[in-house]
Amino acid sequence: MDATRSIEEALEQFGQDFAARFDAATSEQTLRDEKASVLGKKGKLTEILKLMGKVPAEDRRRIGEQVNALKDAVESRFEARLEALRRQRREAELNAPPFDLSMPPRLLAPRGHRHPLSQTQDDLLAIFRDLGFLSVEGPEVELEENNFTKLAFPPDHPATDMQDTFWVDVQGAPSGARTLLRTHTSAVQVREMSSRPPPMAIVSSGAVYRRDDDITHSPMFHQVEGFLVDRRVTFGHLKAVLDAFATRLYGPGTRTRFRPSYFPFVEPGAEVDVSCVFCGGQGCRVCKQTGWIEILGCGMIHPAVFEQCGLDPEAYSGFAFGLGVDRIAMLRYGINDIRLLYENAPRFLTQF
Ligand code: DAH
Repeated sequence: MDATRSIEEALEQFGQDFAARFDAATSEQTLRDEKASVLGKKGKLTEILKLMGKVPAEDRRRIGEQVNALKDAVESRFEARLEALRRQRREAELNAPPFDLSMPPRLLAPRGHRHPLSQTQDDLLAIFRDLGFLSVEGPEVELEENNFTKLAFPPDHPATDMQDTFWVDVQGAPSGARTLLRTHTSAVQVREMSSRPPPMAIVSSGAVYRRDDDITHSPMFHQVEGFLVDRRVTFGHLKAVLDAFATRLYGPGTRTRFRPSYFPFVEPGAEVDVSCVFCGGQGCRVCKQTGWIEILGCGMIHPAVFEQCGLDPEAYSGFAFGLGVDRIAMLRYGINDIRLLYENAPRFLTQF
């Protein structure tokens, strides 16, 4: 058989084969392998072309054209199959059952959250911040003068009995100064009023300490203190702020009641009740059938306190209030024993 004839036959055979092999490839990789086995160095077509040398000159051009046409056919078949394979794969992805994004993940460790006291404290501070109060912090270890003396508790004043104190020795404390764990956040009033010029509206929260321990008293508990100093501040301003606070805390329709009370650093002083959030004032177990719940102490800052802090009581007036965070948290979450807040038992904390 002459060379022209045999190369033509081989090309024809090849033309029939490669298409079927490309179409049988089911992955991009096998398709590429097939292509290499056709066009590559050791490929089928390359093999055939080796016969070219024996083809008589007059046939070469014709055979050459056939070869080029076949090469083009191989390329376009390859591209078409590649495209088809990619489309198939994409369609398979689109038709596959979707990932269930709503399925809860398997957690490696249970997720934590803030302690109910911290939540309550942050909520209380946020209300006063919204009312324009600046939030500051004060130290838990205080000077006696900030905690008592400058707040107009005279030495051995019977009022100090209300706040049975933990005394502590602090290295480096001013000589002769007595130091203690602050019994209330009111000490922050002294610090701020002594160090910044009025007007000021300040709120502060943190731990306080008293030698007390029963189901409603813990030796450490938390308070929020607020005070405002300016010219011509009246009791009316105090009422407006506390009414706004009660409404924000317990919702519209919450009423407040101011009862005269005594604190050495205010005059007049008052205790504030809110209409019971549980019964709306009808009387229930929580409010002990009174319809009212006591939530804070307050009053107009005593002139003696201004003097102690270097402010002129003729020029300035102001109000102050203090409330127990633990008590508010207990009311809010229906907790009846304050000690639960400090035991950190997971079975308790996970309920909030
Ligand atoms: N410091 C007081 C206490 O711990 C609470 C208090 C009462 C704070 C009246 C005040 C206030 O600022 O005006 O019992």
